Amino acid sequence: MPSPIITIDGPSGSGKGTISRLVADRLGWRLLDSGALYRLVAYAGQQRGLSPYDESGHVDIAQHLDVQFGLGSHGGEQIWLAGDEVSQRIRTEQAGEGASRVAAMPGVRAALMDRQRAFAGAPGLVADGRDMGTVVFPGAVLKIFLTASAEERARRRYNQLKDKGLGANLAALSLEIAERDRRDASRAVAPLRPADDAVIVDSTAMTIDAVVARVLELAAARLPA
Ligand code: DC
Repeated sequence: MPSPIITIDGPSGSGKGTISRLVADRLGWRLLDSGALYRLVAYAGQQRGLSPYDESGHVDIAQHLDVQFGLGSHGGEQIWLAGDEVSQRIRTEQAGEGASRVAAMPGVRAALMDRQRAFAGAPGLVADGRDMGTVVFPGAVLKIFLTASAEERARRRYNQLKDKGLGANLAALSLEIAERDRRDASRAVAPLRPADDAVIVDSTAMTIDAVVARVLELAAARLPA
């Protein structure tokens, strides 16, 4: 029997990253941060001086991405690109903006497909992204679509950037989030939308602990005891 997969999809700032990591920790499962792959492709493209519209250049990067995921001494995610530690550099709004652009390129999405599926394995995988339940892992045992109001998501992103010592402006972030939502939801390939069999969780008024508890409760009901 294949190892179980829980997918957690949703818009920017819905808390997917935090919730996915905590759920994976609690279950002792693997974690796929698929957004990081799109951020890495965009970042590597910027480093090479590629035009943001150069699809074949970005497909080439996606096909040869030399990436390693690990944990830092404080338990935070660390990401190496060709041996370079880039965890912070790919978290900027500029990298997120670039990621949203390259994520709309069908060739880039196709080039990252097998790499994402290779994360599946025992004892299980929590996959965080936009199309985990709809495209990459359609057979997942549990599909969560995590959302929150646009205002709340902008506020969370603002606090997250500030905590990391990165500059942020709330009004500008709200506009950027709205624009990224629009692009992610309206692109032709793998647009952001809940899978037909997804459970929608609105985290606007929920604490992180409450969301984690809800996901674990849903998982427990579907996993063999
Ligand atoms: O989750 P994130 O903010 O790190 O994602 C960055 C961008 O990548 C986001 O604008 C949408 C895109 N993305 C995607 O299209 N498909 C995924 N599975 C994950 C992210």
